[in-house]
Amino acid sequence: MNSEKLKKARAYEQKMAAAVPEEQRPAFHLSVPTGWMNDPNGFSFYRGDCHLFYQYNPYSVCWDAMHWGHAKTKDFIRWEYLPAALAPDEEYDAAGVFSGSAIEADGKHVLLYTGVSERESADGKKEIRQVQCLAVGDGTDYEKLPENPVIDASLLPEGSSLEDFRDPKLWEEDGIYYAVVGSRAADGSGQIAMFSSRDLRQWKFCTVLDRCENRIGRMWECPDFFPVGDPDRNTRALVISPQDVTAKWPEFHNGNNALFLIGSYEKEKHLFCRNRVQSADYGLDYYAPQTTQAPDGRRILIAWMKSWDTNIFPEGFSWNGMMTVPREVSLREEDGRILQNPVRELERYHGTPVCAEQVHIHEPASFEGICGRIADLQVEIEGRGFGTFTISVAADERWHTDIVYDEKTEVLRFDRTCSGLRRDVVCTRSMPVPKREGKIRLRILLDRYSVEIFANDGESVMTSLITTPQEADGIRFSSDGGVQADIRMYPIFF
Ligand code: FRU
Repeated sequence: MNSEKLKKARAYEQKMAAAVPEEQRPAFHLSVPTGWMNDPNGFSFYRGDCHLFYQYNPYSVCWDAMHWGHAKTKDFIRWEYLPAALAPDEEYDAAGVFSGSAIEADGKHVLLYTGVSERESADGKKEIRQVQCLAVGDGTDYEKLPENPVIDASLLPEGSSLEDFRDPKLWEEDGIYYAVVGSRAADGSGQIAMFSSRDLRQWKFCTVLDRCENRIGRMWECPDFFPVGDPDRNTRALVISPQDVTAKWPEFHNGNNALFLIGSYEKEKHLFCRNRVQSADYGLDYYAPQTTQAPDGRRILIAWMKSWDTNIFPEGFSWNGMMTVPREVSLREEDGRILQNPVRELERYHGTPVCAEQVHIHEPASFEGICGRIADLQVEIEGRGFGTFTISVAADERWHTDIVYDEKTEVLRFDRTCSGLRRDVVCTRSMPVPKREGKIRLRILLDRYSVEIFANDGESVMTSLITTPQEADGIRFSSDGGVQADIRMYPIFF
């Protein structure tokens, strides 16, 4: 039975979403039907469709009273909205239905999420509690279980926080269910707790997979844990979204980050040994990635395309929130680096390419037909001693967003200073992009409000929002010393 709160949210979103003009939305990114969206949740396959839920406040463009919104897709690109799945309508989740994940089990779609409640303690202080709860459904309607909560903080090692215990990521392995959950140890520092269960209802504590020890930010949110690369090597990626990080170039920037902790895993002992840390995305607007495994074996990742610390959305919109393009994740065994590339299904939406082959770029140049705000732009450059090479997108006489490659430092810098922002927010970020066999390759996905850059076949990625008026649709190229470039632009059609 759906609660009054859920029915109200469903009626409201239906009315409001219909009023948003299609051309106001991104073309090939999932956006919230109305109100506010944050983390992706419950990214999973159920009865042949790929489902995605998300943190959702239908009633305003700001974070509040978390629900779970819901959408599904057959190809990761074209999404169909479904009615909101969960509302904060139980005592144990009255202060919010926070992030979580989903799995198909015994023909049912099972959601594991964080319920948040608030109460007043004996001394009059506000006490927050976060617990893990189950809801089971058929792909549209979900029932919260009477056994809820199924995991509470009393299972954690002594001294762990009762308040910061959230974002369970669920998977099944060798007939046993596992979940990793973000938590805080007795010293206040983040830790990833792992639990196991045979029936999804009764859980026991397994281990702490990895600990922050106050070295990488503080609280670690939104964990995910999955195998990557050659199965015989037992490599796993533990994904975390740490809060309160202090910058250390290149892997960490200030504030909330998203990181891959890559290491080896001894399955029998549940022992994870971290070898490397890699930024999941070097851009300005990216958080809380979550993955799922597609039936064909691909590991697919999606993330919230926003930063908690900046709100640069166009004024007057009734919706605020988008997801990144889903990405295929793989491991480069030689150096243990995780590669990410847009899902191959995006290519089905490619129009006829416009190319400028083997062009010499020095003075600012543009090429006929290479323009637009909804495109897949692929550029390969080659040269020596050219200083810098710049691609400006969303450009006209007034506006431009620059992607600048510095040959000497082998660093790629994104700069949205002149993209039309009216707030004094962070506008630049950079990432290392070493030349590979004397070349660099960039793939830039442009949608109405976003720029996602995949460098050197996905070895580093950078995602950022821009709010430039859509009329600014120029793409320009220039270089201090001159480079040889191969440019190919696919318009994206829907
Ligand atoms: C991360 C996060 C999660 C939490 C959710 C609440 O962005 O803070 O830890 O579950 O957002 O909306």
